[in-house]
Amino acid sequence: MIFKDYAKYYNLLYQNKDYRKETEYISSLIKKFKPESKKILEFGSGSGIHGRMLANIGYHLFGIERSQEMIDLGYQNYPPQNKDENFFFFQGDCTKTFIANDFDAVISLFHVFSYQTSEELAIDMLKNANRQLKQGGIFIFDYWFAPAVWKYRPKLRVKKVENTNLKITRIAEPICFEEKNLVDVDYLTFVEELPNGKISKIQETHKLKAFDLDEIINFSNSTGFEILHSEEWMSQLPPSQKTWGVCSILRKR
Ligand SMILES: C[S@@+](CC[C@H](N)C(=O)[O-])C[C@H]1O[C@@H](n2cnc3c(N)ncnc32)[C@H](O)[C@@H]1O
Repeated sequence: MIFKDYAKYYNLLYQNKDYRKETEYISSLIKKFKPESKKILEFGSGSGIHGRMLANIGYHLFGIERSQEMIDLGYQNYPPQNKDENFFFFQGDCTKTFIANDFDAVISLFHVFSYQTSEELAIDMLKNANRQLKQGGIFIFDYWFAPAVWKYRPKLRVKKVENTNLKITRIAEPICFEEKNLVDVDYLTFVEELPNGKISKIQETHKLKAFDLDEIINFSNSTGFEILHSEEWMSQLPPSQKTWGVCSILRKR
């Protein structure tokens, strides 16, 4: 199981990720491709940062997240008794969990689609999005883009972050299976408690799959969607060999 002990440190590890700007970007895509949207389902909602920001600007957000630890992390900052009535988390699997069939948009952000590491799982996620959308509803999701992943190739990376209590060092070591478009990222995370110097170690392997545009088009066509647009995540440039993260927008036919 991934996003377990590691989940406790997720928000600290990504403290410099610009969730506000990303939320503005997602909101601009929703306004462009389905302007009347109100009710939104988020797949792999994690600790709920995008979801709560979207709820705060007026959308009704429902999140499906597999890791209870990620959901709990979200509630540490926003206790249930204070929870925004426009934002609800459900523990579940976005390839099969059903909430309702009247969503205007489904969103899935920060490579959740790439965590679906087989064609079957990717198709199941699209089918599960499709059956919960209204006719004409949209699905916005980002994923690792195969042409760029194999041009640049995942590299060993070390990330260091800290706050007043904790110092975290995370080593990410990729093992590539190019012929299958798969990468196993071995995360070895050292957590130092600064007040007493105690160090603990967390190990998780995250399996990720890269996709190319032909696959996304084929999967869309076979799951009741048409593809409206694909662009580089945030920059909005056309997908290219320089584009690690691509964002696609599909519409339910
Ligand atoms: C990189 S995190 C992104 C979390 C959040 N979307 C964000 O932007 O911070 C990927 C998340 O997807 C969740 N996830 C991956 N596959 C899932 C699935 N099949 N069903 C539900 N959640 C899933 C993981 O548990 C994890 O919380």
